[in-house]
Amino acid sequence: MILITGASGQIGVDLADELVRRHGPGNVLVTDLRMPEKQRPGRVYDVLDVTYMESVEKIIQSRDISVIYHLAGILSATGERHPELAWNVNVNGVRNVLEAARRFGCRVFWPSSIAVFGPTTPKIDTPQATVTEPGTMYGATKVTGELLCKFHATHHDLDVRSVRFPGIISHSAPPGGGTTDWAVDMFFQAVRHGHYTCFVTEDTRLPMMYMPDAVKSVLDLMDADSACISIRTSYNLTAFSFSSGELAEAIRAYIPDFTCDYAPDFRQDIADSWPQSIDDSCAREDWNWQPEYDLDAMVRDMLHHVRIMIGKEQA
Ligand code: SER
Repeated sequence: MILITGASGQIGVDLADELVRRHGPGNVLVTDLRMPEKQRPGRVYDVLDVTYMESVEKIIQSRDISVIYHLAGILSATGERHPELAWNVNVNGVRNVLEAARRFGCRVFWPSSIAVFGPTTPKIDTPQATVTEPGTMYGATKVTGELLCKFHATHHDLDVRSVRFPGIISHSAPPGGGTTDWAVDMFFQAVRHGHYTCFVTEDTRLPMMYMPDAVKSVLDLMDADSACISIRTSYNLTAFSFSSGELAEAIRAYIPDFTCDYAPDFRQDIADSWPQSIDDSCAREDWNWQPEYDLDAMVRDMLHHVRIMIGKEQA
């Protein structure tokens, strides 16, 4: 059986859909701290707190888990407000999962982030191997997680694979507590109210990706022949970069009256410390990474889905 931790989160919901489609109903165990109010078809549900080693081991053993998508984590903005929680969930969680995976012979996917980079990292076309001195607790936990992955891969031959996700744009489940959340919020506010107040400045540019590409990257990486995986910390990954002003402009192509103003808060400093664009040539070379959505295709598809969702809410 396949285990997803943090399955109610932004990535988990869409990844579970795809894994159920691939492996059939009853083969994907989705876990989170709580049972969701609405259950989706095809999944098996359970509760799991990844900070408890006994719980992680018990679920892997009792459910005969062979692959783990370990998505449970605290994002950057929440992590700055609750650094101890971020450390406990992100570092102890990944440590528990890696250790249990080693004992029970599971393969593991774990997401890292562009947050491993910081003010001293080159900001344009950030290379794979470069300075990783993040300014945030979230970044510190992701650097630590990457090193734990590499340790387990090299010392214990654990097949753990990872990507450094950029901001991810999606509509199925809201992101929670991230610095790149503005790129999702803008769509919902544009459709609901025709206006958005963005929490970073108009010229704040960050690397981004649409969810179908994020899910594709996870599956492509996990499908790749192990001999092709030359990086066991985490692969740089991107689809495109845009500023908040450019996203507003791209939305305006479909909602001409949409207006956006800018009221930066504490998340501005986090965004300013991250790269503006990413060199993901290692992922392209090693496992043929290739995104499918460009900015305009993403905007068109997002607006289509967000309009349907908001139409249903208002009906
Ligand atoms: N999207 C994440 C965040 O903003 C970055 O990994 O926290």
